[in-house]
Amino acid sequence: MFYEPGKGPKGGNHGLPHNPLKNLFVPRPIGWFTTMDAQGRVNLAPYSFFNIVAGDPPIIVFGTGPDFRENSDDPRKDTQRNIEETGEFVFNLATYDLKDQVKKSGDMLPYGEDEVEYVGLTKVPSKLVSPPRIKESPVQAEGKYLQTIQLPSNDKNRPTHLILGEIVGIHISDELIEDGKVNTAKAKPLARLGYYDYGFIENIFPIK
Ligand SMILES: Cc1cc2nc3c(=O)[nH]c(=O)nc-3n(C[C@H](O)[C@H](O)[C@H](O)COP(=O)(O)O)c2cc1C
Repeated sequence: MFYEPGKGPKGGNHGLPHNPLKNLFVPRPIGWFTTMDAQGRVNLAPYSFFNIVAGDPPIIVFGTGPDFRENSDDPRKDTQRNIEETGEFVFNLATYDLKDQVKKSGDMLPYGEDEVEYVGLTKVPSKLVSPPRIKESPVQAEGKYLQTIQLPSNDKNRPTHLILGEIVGIHISDELIEDGKVNTAKAKPLARLGYYDYGFIENIFPIK
């Protein structure tokens, strides 16, 4: 089949009952970000339009849609708002064991409400930035905000944005380090697919 995403309802003229788009660009890692607002209140949320896009220095990017909460006084989701206002974030690796907390942290709570407490996880202080790390996550990366890019949008009043950030400090659980290498697969990193589907890294093979 062939379809054009810009033509027709439900994300294009694919003729399917559900938009297939997010199940085609897979697997997507999940940027699971802790941030803080100007008052020091903690926020946690998952973003699967996410990846690392440069290595030296490490630069990450994620795409954030508009805030659809009723009565919200700001068009941005909390993560974008906090990163833009305070300039810092922490990436926490989303793993299979934490899948329920990852999903629940995507619930749209009012601004300023702490999703780390809401999902029952533990905060530990970061070394270089103010937002805390999630203790239960085996890899945490401290980051500083770089830039926001507004993307073309079909809803001109509520655009999507790309947020770019630089990773400045990385914590790795000692349990993942084996023979001088990081065995990240041991942590079963979570991948977002489309629909309600997720996966995790299981089969690893080298190609030299
Ligand atoms: C696994 C997962 C991935 C998500 N990815 C995105 C994403 O890439 N972009 C986005 O705008 N929202 C995404 N969401 C929805 C946000 O997490 C949700 O709107 C959340 O409430 C935003 O929180 P915040 O306002 O605290 O930043 C995702 C949700 C889940 C559960």
